[in-house]
Amino acid sequence: MTARMKVLHVGAEVFPLVKTGGLADVLGALPQALIGQGADVRLLLPGLPAIADAVLHQRNVCQIGPCFGAARVTLRLGQMPYSQVPVYVIDAPLLYRRPGSPYQASDGSEWPDNVQRFALLGWVGAQLAAGALDPAWQPEVLHAHDWHAAMACAYVAAHPPANVATVFTVHNLAYQGLFPSGDFSLLGLSSRFMASTGLEYHQQLSFMKAGLKFADRITTVSPTYAREIATHEFGFGLDGVIRGRGGDVSGVLNGVDGAVWDPSNDAGIATRYSAAELGGKLRCKAALQAELGLTVRADAPLFGVVSRLTSQKGLDLVLGALPALLKRGGQLALQGAGDPALEVAFVAAAKANPGEVAVRIGYDEAFAHRLIAGSDAILVPSRFEPCGLTQLYGLRYGTVPVVRRVGGLADTVIDAGDDALASERATGFAFDAATAAALEGAMQRAIAAYAQPARWHRLMLRGMAQDFSWGGAAWQYVALYAELVGLRGSRPA
Ligand code: ADP
Ligand code: GLC
Repeated sequence: MTARMKVLHVGAEVFPLVKTGGLADVLGALPQALIGQGADVRLLLPGLPAIADAVLHQRNVCQIGPCFGAARVTLRLGQMPYSQVPVYVIDAPLLYRRPGSPYQASDGSEWPDNVQRFALLGWVGAQLAAGALDPAWQPEVLHAHDWHAAMACAYVAAHPPANVATVFTVHNLAYQGLFPSGDFSLLGLSSRFMASTGLEYHQQLSFMKAGLKFADRITTVSPTYAREIATHEFGFGLDGVIRGRGGDVSGVLNGVDGAVWDPSNDAGIATRYSAAELGGKLRCKAALQAELGLTVRADAPLFGVVSRLTSQKGLDLVLGALPALLKRGGQLALQGAGDPALEVAFVAAAKANPGEVAVRIGYDEAFAHRLIAGSDAILVPSRFEPCGLTQLYGLRYGTVPVVRRVGGLADTVIDAGDDALASERATGFAFDAATAAALEGAMQRAIAAYAQPARWHRLMLRGMAQDFSWGGAAWQYVALYAELVGLRGSRPA
């Protein structure tokens, strides 16, 4: 019998405990999918209050002396609620036990000690990989997610344990974890790491670069994004570093957690439905229109948005395309939070168009389900999109995606070109230029298709039949881990 491969996933947020975006959805689902593929997977998370207070059956693994400015650090091992995935929690009250976002204070400024908070996360990951903290379990693969966990790759590289490989997944290259170069002394690394071949980035310190330079392999959350980040347009200043890694960079498309996003088993929506029984979707639409104060009209094409309001998401294009949408009898329902100027602009649009535009500012997981179930189409006009999950939720819920053809959006939505609707492949509408006119064109095509119920019905059904379950992604990660472990094993001692 072959032993199960041991893999440690390191990240800063996890659904349903702490979530600011899709990273949490991934860390909430991927470990379980990997366990389903036979891997022995554990998570390592910072002891933010919502994590430290919710993880089940916690026991102390070890005390870690004062480090990274924290007087007391304890490593605990417990289980994720719902999934029972084993999870190490770093209990460091001084660094992690504070209310609000994992990354920012309530005024939107970064927590001033983020360099220490996320260096500790990476360092503990590397110590676990070295077998220094838990004699009962030592991973063969350390898999770090985004800049928050990237330092794990540098710490492993500083003292490489035998037979441990590292994988770094870029969920979003726009957030890089940049700190003043003077903070380097807090990291406990030798000066060779503060070079252009290491963490140094334009006289600053970059945690993202720690992952990009020192991980054995780099993955991104879609194949197209893996190619895009090697270009000046999408590389956020790191495209040279990415190109330098050559064939070590690849893309593995995210999946959908079917236990959370499934219209036939979603207790939070007005009426459950499935491809075989689509009547419930109409009731979800009427319920959403009523809940939002929109005119309850079955024949009005209702476009939904669930999104962070940042320039990444291209929602200013929606504001530009709105008059044309309304002229054609469409409606808009938006749930989002972020950039105050966008919040103000969408609230004003709703005020100016009562009954046809509804906007909810804030973060509301339950409402996101009702919005996606009740909308006819979901808009994701992103400037860049590493993967994107809401278009995948849309496909699953028969809510036809209208997306910009970038990153994971390009990999997951098949455009209904002029005659492709008949080609039995199309699942949505895609456009190229990041302009309101291009979005307007795609929305116009969607509205025209919507006016032909049989065509629209076929589009919905094709989307609902797509398989974006996590199994396929988990299989690809396991193959990558096996390759890396094999390479390590064949190295001369
Ligand atoms: P990103 O991670 O870049 O924000 P994704 O599409 O990968 O984009 O994931 C976003 C996740 O966050 C989805 O699960 C989406 O439903 C959720 N989400 C985003 N904004 C909101 C909001 N205002 N309320 C509820 N859920 C939201
Ligand atoms: C990031 C990206 C998003 C991706 C998510 C999960 O937040 O912006 O495109 O789906 O990570 O990988």
